[in-house]
Amino acid sequence: MILFATSDKGGTGRSVTSCNVALRCALQGHDVCYLDFDFGSPTAGAIFHVDSAARGITGGRGLHSYLEGSVSAPVELDLWRHIERAELRPPPAGAARLVLLPGDEGGGEFPIDDEMIDRCQRLLRRLAEEFELVIVDLSAGRSYALQLALEVTARPALRAVTTRWLVFHRWTRQHIIAAAGLAYGDHGIVATGVDKGHVRDQLDDSVRFVRTAVPAPESSQFAGLLPTQAAWLQETDAELQKLAARRRVGRSVLLGSVPLDPVLQWREQLILDSDVRTLQIANKETNAALDALAEDVLNDDSWEGL
Ligand SMILES: Nc1ncnc2c1ncn2[C@@H]1O[C@H](COP(=O)(O)OP(=O)(O)O)[C@@H](O)[C@H]1O
Ligand SMILES: [Mg+2]
Repeated sequence: MILFATSDKGGTGRSVTSCNVALRCALQGHDVCYLDFDFGSPTAGAIFHVDSAARGITGGRGLHSYLEGSVSAPVELDLWRHIERAELRPPPAGAARLVLLPGDEGGGEFPIDDEMIDRCQRLLRRLAEEFELVIVDLSAGRSYALQLALEVTARPALRAVTTRWLVFHRWTRQHIIAAAGLAYGDHGIVATGVDKGHVRDQLDDSVRFVRTAVPAPESSQFAGLLPTQAAWLQETDAELQKLAARRRVGRSVLLGSVPLDPVLQWREQLILDSDVRTLQIANKETNAALDALAEDVLNDDSWEGL
C-alpha cells in the first residue's frame, strides 16, 4: 500500500505522527519505507533521530536529485542502523524493515515535468512491491508534491497498487475547515485527482483524516483549570465536532486522533515505550493512540467504503 500523508497547513503534526506510525508498523512486523516528499523542507531525518540526515542528505543523492534525474536511484537509509536512540539498537525482536528515503539537504520545491513523473512512478512501483507500507510525506497544501502524487497514481502502471490518503489537521476551527478544503474543495485532492484521471468515488473513498494534538478536556492535563475554562473547553470541543461533521471530516472518515502530548509539543521525535514507562515524560494515551493508528492504517476495514 502507498499511503500519502498530506495536510493543508504546515505544523499540523503530519510528519511527526507519520514517522511514529512508520516506526510502529515496522515494530509490528511490517516492512515499511518512508519517503520525504516535503520538498521545501525535507527534515524527516530529524524526527527519526538521524543526525546525519536531519535536514536531508548531502552529496546530491536524495529524492530531489533522483526526481530531477541526476542520480539513477535515491539513497535508502536503513533506519535500524541510523536512529540514534539506544533503545532501538539493536532493533527489538520481531521488527521488520524500516527505511527512509530522505530529500536533499538544501533542496527546494520544483515544478514537475513528464520525466519526473516517470521516475516517480518507477520508484513508487518498485517500493510498493518491496514494502508492505510506503508512506509518502507530502509538502503541505496544494503543492507540487501533491500534484505529482495525484498524477502518478492515476497512471496505469500504479493502478494495481492500493493507494490511500491521510489528511492531518489540528483540532481547531481553522484546521478543520482547511483540511476539508484540501480533501474536497477546489483544487483539492479529489478535484485535482479527477482532473488527472482518477475515478471520483474511489478517490473520495480512499481519503481519511487524522486529528493531532487534540486536547482532552477531561484529562489530568487540564485538572488545574477554572470551572469557567473547563466548561468553555467542553463547549468548544462540541462545536468543533459539529463543524467537522458538517464539513465531512467527522467520525465516519476519522482514522485516528492523537492527544496533545507534552513531549511532542516540545520536540518532534519518536515516542518509545521507554518515554512512557522509564523516563515517564510522554503520556500513555499518546502511546496507545499511535499504536491504534498504526494498526488501523494497515487494517483494510478502516478503509472500507462508506
Ligand atoms: N500530538 C501532539 N501533541 C503536541 N504537539 C504535537 C503533536 N503532534 C505534533 N505536534 C507538534 O506540532 C509541530 C508540528 O508537527 P510536524 O509533524 O512538524 O507538522 P507538519 O509535518 O504537519 O508540518 C511539532 O512541533 C510537533 O512536535
Ligand atoms: Mg512536516
